[in-house]
Amino acid sequence: MTRPAGDVLLEVTDLKVHFPIKRGVVIDRTVGHVYAVDGVDLAIRRGETYGLVGESGCGKSTLGRAILRLNEPTAGHVVFDGTDVAALKGEELRKARRRMQMIFQDPMSSLDPRQSVESILLEGMRAHGLDKDKDATQRRLRQLLSAVGLPESSLRKYPHEFSGGQRQRIGIARALAVEPDLIVADEPVSALDVSVQAQVVNLLEDLQDQLGLTYVVIAHDLAVVRHISDRIGVMYLGALVEETDADSLYRDPLHPYTRALLSAIPVPDPQVEDTREQILLAGDLPSPANPPSGCRFHTRCPWRQASLCDTDRPQLREIGSGHRVACHYAEDIRDGRIQPHEVEPELVELTGALNPDLGPPDVGTAAEIL
Ligand SMILES: Nc1ncnc2c1ncn2[C@@H]1O[C@H](COP(=O)(O)OP(=O)(O)OP(=O)(O)O)[C@@H](O)[C@H]1O
Ligand code: SF4
Ligand SMILES: [Mg+2]
Repeated sequence: MTRPAGDVLLEVTDLKVHFPIKRGVVIDRTVGHVYAVDGVDLAIRRGETYGLVGESGCGKSTLGRAILRLNEPTAGHVVFDGTDVAALKGEELRKARRRMQMIFQDPMSSLDPRQSVESILLEGMRAHGLDKDKDATQRRLRQLLSAVGLPESSLRKYPHEFSGGQRQRIGIARALAVEPDLIVADEPVSALDVSVQAQVVNLLEDLQDQLGLTYVVIAHDLAVVRHISDRIGVMYLGALVEETDADSLYRDPLHPYTRALLSAIPVPDPQVEDTREQILLAGDLPSPANPPSGCRFHTRCPWRQASLCDTDRPQLREIGSGHRVACHYAEDIRDGRIQPHEVEPELVELTGALNPDLGPPDVGTAAEIL
């Protein structure tokens, strides 16, 4: 799906979110950091859908939450419609938040079971002064339910009285209640049955067309992201490694990590399935508390070279129209000048957050959504 390019609504520059790992019985000492997001640059145009994919733990949710200032950025800028959200405080931050909403993976745990649907939808409207006139508010509530395909009678019900797909519709209505411009949808369909996933994806697309919304859609499932996204960013250990429009990414993946991700998706045609390139990644995702030097993918990369890969961190650079890749050898790989080889999995030392012996990290509380 391709829409005309709009102006830039959101620009993220060198964004970092490092969670301190604290230890100590009487006095907390910072003994390290989880580099959950570590230098992300991206720009999202008004009205587009930007898909964000990557392995579990690579920092997708932290990036999404940092855009909304639900996680405090350690460094960098998040410029939303001309204003640097990363620098806002108090009332100004609260006002900016109305225009950026989030939809969560698990609609059950993100909806308060003790609140009726009416009270869930009203909460955000009240917080932002959008419920001044009683009749208008009632009309608005009915309109919201109709927009997400739920009957009016839902207003008096509680989350447990709905199916998973219906609960996600309530989550979407809650986000829409405050009339946002940008919605960050964090795995919006991965907790739903496959049969219901397509309905919710279609609903998100219809709402985008009707309301001119801009989406960041975070997903594990490359098929979901491909279907819904105009452009896709692939994340690995806290940074983007490749970004381009959805069709180019699938047709012409350039980063070795993207190639490995795509090669893991089975193809329905048995002839193609038998002959296509399959890249098995050696080892697990290294700890974001102790990321590899140089290119963060070098411990698993089948194209790793003796120079640069282990020592110099590659920047995300444009190597085709609108196609950005963070790999020193992207052109050589693309043109077949270097070939993949076997990778011996390296033993990666786990420290801090991912070491169960050390207990959970203590990072303080995240900001509230309203
Ligand atoms: N509040 C926190 N305190 C400490 N570490 C955190 C916190 N939130 C996330 N992390 C760590 O940051 C890293 C990135 O986490 P994040 O949830 O952003 O990944 P993700 O890509 O969304 O993963 P998933 O696909 O499993 O949802 C992980 O190592 C995680 O343990
Ligand atoms: S920079 Fe080196 S290690 Fe990193 S993806 Fe490219 S070839 Fe692989
Ligand atoms: Mg996540």
